[in-house]
Amino acid sequence: MKIKVNVEQLKTGMYVSELDRPWLGTPFLFQGFAVEDDEQLTQLRELCEFVYVDVEQSVRDIVPHLQKLAAAPQVKKAPKRAPRRAPQAQDGTDHFAFHAELRKARPHYDATRTYIEEALEDVRLGQSVDTKAARRLVGQLADSILRNANALVWLTHLKERDQYTVTHCINVCILTLSFARCLGIGREEMQTAGLGALLHDLGKMRVPLEILNKPGKLTDEEFEIIKTHPVHGYNLLRDKEELTEEVLDIVHYHHERIGGRGYPKGFTGDQISQLTKLVSIVDVYDAVTSDRCYHDGITPHQALNNIYKWAPGNFDQELVESFIRCLGIYPIGSLVELNTGDIGVVVVATERNRLRPMVLLVLDADHKPYSQRTIINLANPKWAEGGEKLEIVHILEGDAYGINVPAIIEDECRQLESA
Ligand SMILES: [Fe+2]
Repeated sequence: MKIKVNVEQLKTGMYVSELDRPWLGTPFLFQGFAVEDDEQLTQLRELCEFVYVDVEQSVRDIVPHLQKLAAAPQVKKAPKRAPRRAPQAQDGTDHFAFHAELRKARPHYDATRTYIEEALEDVRLGQSVDTKAARRLVGQLADSILRNANALVWLTHLKERDQYTVTHCINVCILTLSFARCLGIGREEMQTAGLGALLHDLGKMRVPLEILNKPGKLTDEEFEIIKTHPVHGYNLLRDKEELTEEVLDIVHYHHERIGGRGYPKGFTGDQISQLTKLVSIVDVYDAVTSDRCYHDGITPHQALNNIYKWAPGNFDQELVESFIRCLGIYPIGSLVELNTGDIGVVVVATERNRLRPMVLLVLDADHKPYSQRTIINLANPKWAEGGEKLEIVHILEGDAYGINVPAIIEDECRQLESA
């Protein structure tokens, strides 16, 4: 029997089988566990309002107490009222650091985008690639990530379906830098990982376009041709003085999988470098969250769920768990619905306030667009409607209510420039 228990009434020995939110991104990566100590109690109280407790799996001493709780009448909360108007900014300082970094980061993002467009074209035409420029650009992106990772990570949602390879290269670079920062990797190594990530798919330009962009399933022969791209990439770059072995390893081995079923070599475990393992997770994450010519991307939240499931035999489990923690419960760029009915895009997520990111409000409670969008910080108690704290109640599909996140990002950047 499962009973719903308010977190304030939780005790050690109770077996928590369900939370009032997704397990993913919480510190509890095992779905269902017996509460062992006060630390777990505190974490559950911070994260949840209520949980479901499995009576049979709980320790025997606690069962009579649980039966009493099950028999007690449930206190009903008053329904959340619809707001009369949108929440109002009080002092406008919440979004200051984000906007300041966005202003600095956007030119570096654009320059890197132009660079990778040209580099891909150079490879297609059989010309040499300027890797010195790549190193300099990745350095600028790394500095931005170290100042405030949110701005560039937000820009990774400037995705264009028909520009997949370009946006994929730059996004894998940015998300790798951000992940490396989360892991506490030093700047030098961060730049190495970022450079490998930016250049990782250059070899794809040696694959015929009709195979690369083929809608629908590839034949075995076509897939064999796609599988040559890491080797092409490595051969294109191996003589570049400024590229270290670590960078070349990322390009060459980003499709290796720890269980040995990757390519080109079928390496296992530690035959794959740590930085390459890191980039391979980010590579898959960006690929599945992107719209392609033949399918729509899935939400960041779904992607993290899938990668967690795929980890055995493919990815380093510990790194996957770190990646999930790094991106957070509500990854930047997620569309979310608040308890007021407003719809917004997550723009800033911090580890300290995993459940309370900063959100750019896009639609009001009637799902009409705001004429002037506001960024609200859910961690700041000043953002309350009629005394009730604002909070996220749902994660939505990336195009819910016809919202076009890339267009909103462009619009916000334009407004910043003209401010
Ligand atoms: Fe690749």
